[in-house]
Amino acid sequence: MNILAIESSCDEFSVAILKDGKVLSNIISSQIEQHKEYGGVVPELASRLHVQNFHWVLDEAIIEAGIKLEELNYIVYTSNPGLIGSLIIGKIVAQTLAQYLKIPLLPLNHLHGHVYSAFIENDIEFPAVALITSGGHTEIILMKDHLEFETLGQTQDDAIGECFDKVAIKMGLTYPGGPAIDKIAKISNESKYKIPKPRDINEYDFSFSGIKTGSINLLHKLKQSKTELDLNSFAYSFQKTCVEYVIEKLEKAVKKYEPKFVILGGGVSANSMLRNKFQEMAKENKIKSIIPKHEYCTDNAAMMGMLGYRTIIKLRK
Ligand code: KG4
Ligand code: ZN
Repeated sequence: MNILAIESSCDEFSVAILKDGKVLSNIISSQIEQHKEYGGVVPELASRLHVQNFHWVLDEAIIEAGIKLEELNYIVYTSNPGLIGSLIIGKIVAQTLAQYLKIPLLPLNHLHGHVYSAFIENDIEFPAVALITSGGHTEIILMKDHLEFETLGQTQDDAIGECFDKVAIKMGLTYPGGPAIDKIAKISNESKYKIPKPRDINEYDFSFSGIKTGSINLLHKLKQSKTELDLNSFAYSFQKTCVEYVIEKLEKAVKKYEPKFVILGGGVSANSMLRNKFQEMAKENKIKSIIPKHEYCTDNAAMMGMLGYRTIIKLRK
């Protein structure tokens, strides 16, 4: 079964081709450089760049996979959630291909795709609990079987990556803020600043607006009082607060649902402290932990293809 998958929900346009659930190609065009000067993703610019880029991404994915268009059996694409202009470009490309080739077209959920990134190179047993952390999402999902997604908790305001990006800009760092904070936090390894954690809304839900505003206010106060800022330690303190907060919630879910596997996904999973604490937590609770390789953690079409593969198998039964 040959699947062509398209992911275009935010600022990446990606096309992947999978043969019987194995990734043959996964081409990603990232727009980070173009959005950098605005300090974040500009939705209108993202859709315009998708229009410019989809041709070569599609061509490269087909060439690298070494298959002919006529050999494709299904087209799958991200239909939600995401930036509406970006999603529409992906949908139009997917629909055009499916109509031209006269093959079925399948709309898929982006968050479920992030969970399935862990299934690309691993045999995962159920139940499994996934923590998805990215620029747009912070969510804990329980899976009792393939395609059974139960959202245990999610952010009620900002996503963790968004919080890193916004605080980093106020710290004078460049977009994307996550890698920038991660890098300088390693120089410090010392928590000199007290970053306020949000009040617990409920067991598994998150709130990052308190951490964001608290951090920005603290930066302002230090500036006003002309206190010298230890930027590296500030990065460390902020990162530690965010990471411990998500791991605490994840551990609660792990203790309650006793999964066989725990999965970390989304772009923020590149964070060194998050990876360490995630693995430590899994070890202490004696469960297997999976962090997909970086290419499959950030937005990519291979994860959508993997989700599509499982969905099609189920539909065929
Ligand atoms: O999954 P992703 O590529 O796109 C979205 O769907 O949002 O995630 C991008 C996010 C950005 O907010 C970026 O700052 C964050 O992931 N990120 C990191 C690190 N690398 C990327 N956050 C913390 N530490 C990192 N090393
Ligand atoms: Zn994403």
